Amino acid sequence: MKKTALLLGALLLTATAGARTFDEIKAAGTIKIATEGAFKPFNYFEGKKLTGFEVEIGDAIAKKLGLKVQWITQPFDSLIIGVTQNRYDFAIASHGINEERAKVVDFSDPHYCTGGQIVSKSPNIKTAAQLNGKRVAVQVGTSYLSNVQKVKGVKVKTFPKDTDAVAALIAGTVDAWVSDKFVVLDAKKANPKVKWQLGDLLFKEEIAMVVNKGNDSVTEALNGALADIIKDGTYAKISKKYFGTDVSCK
Ligand code: ARG
Repeated sequence: MKKTALLLGALLLTATAGARTFDEIKAAGTIKIATEGAFKPFNYFEGKKLTGFEVEIGDAIAKKLGLKVQWITQPFDSLIIGVTQNRYDFAIASHGINEERAKVVDFSDPHYCTGGQIVSKSPNIKTAAQLNGKRVAVQVGTSYLSNVQKVKGVKVKTFPKDTDAVAALIAGTVDAWVSDKFVVLDAKKANPKVKWQLGDLLFKEEIAMVVNKGNDSVTEALNGALADIIKDGTYAKISKKYFGTDVSCK
């Protein structure tokens, strides 16, 4: 009986344990960062190595803060939940800032600016209006899904990973795909034989790191370090490496 109560207490404690403040992270020496690892060129695996623009930005931020990094990879649609449960200190996985998410988590300053682009293999499917009656592939839990759902007459098909969504377009089981404009460029480069039709940007978004609600010391530390790596040229160097240009929100 006593044992069960103790066990329950311990369980409750872990479930309700607060987010680590920046001072607590500093004292521990290692920051836990979560990402997906399947959103090239932002976060992906090269063989067994987690890499990408956001992984390098995360590493550079941690370095500025004098911290080691423990990377954790999770399916995209479980990352925000993981942040709210304090399984890691923050997530960097191309989350667009929006009201829905801001109800449950806080955002850092944006680490890049981009948009959701319509892609197909037909010159007649390039605009939002032309998606009417069409099957459109998007990754679950994304802003692509919520924005495509607003378009009249669309038959939305969701996929666990964005790489599955583009595979469906290539295979021809859907008529269009909506994804990040830089991810689209990467997919195009990787599959030069596909007759890509790059359409309109369906919407624009600012991408930021995700922190648990009210964990201001961590948000402030991230903002400070992001500003520092922008100022000292580290950000521009990483951005050029992946995109040939500076993708910061200027
Ligand atoms: N930018 C989009 C969003 O805010 C998609 C992000 C997808 N990220 C990923 N790692 N698969 O929802």
